[in-house]
Amino acid sequence: MSEPLLQLTYISDVAPGLSSEQIATIHQQAERNNQRLGITGVLLVTSRHFLQLLEGPAELVKTRFKLIAADPRHQNVRLVSERPVQQRQFPHWQMGLKRLLDQDEHADLQAVIHLYGQQQTFSEQHADAIALLLKSL
Ligand SMILES: Cc1cc2nc3c(=O)[nH]c(=O)nc-3n(C[C@H](O)[C@H](O)[C@H](O)COP(=O)(O)O)c2cc1C
Repeated sequence: MSEPLLQLTYISDVAPGLSSEQIATIHQQAERNNQRLGITGVLLVTSRHFLQLLEGPAELVKTRFKLIAADPRHQNVRLVSERPVQQRQFPHWQMGLKRLLDQDEHADLQAVIHLYGQQQTFSEQHADAIALLLKSL
């Protein structure tokens, strides 16, 4: 049997004063490490929040998330959902970064991220809504 896969989504607040260069560095680190680890997913950034979905071997995703959650480049990291999946739902994303900053494109997704960004806890419905919106990217 193949290793169990985990899909983990979180939302966080961008650290005050974080520059676009620093965001680019995060993206590079994520791409490089995730490729090596066999983790895929997507990292979205708005003017206020990060939203990231990670998929991969369960233990690797959990360990990586602990490391990411302790990163001072963001704050108030909140788990939206953590669920086992039979197969990757976003297999093609080697952690593609979609910048939603200053852009009318994906305004619906941006609005949802800002709304969810104000919440501390999330229901299964919230998680489903986010997964659905990410699928439409
Ligand atoms: C919002 C955010 C998302 C991140 N996403 C990832 C990621 O998907 N994979 C990863 O390895 N590191 C990610 N990082 C960086 C980690 O927190 C950490 O700095 C990095 O993994 C350390 O890598 P290094 O050992 O190559 O220096 C992220 C950081 C932030 C702030």
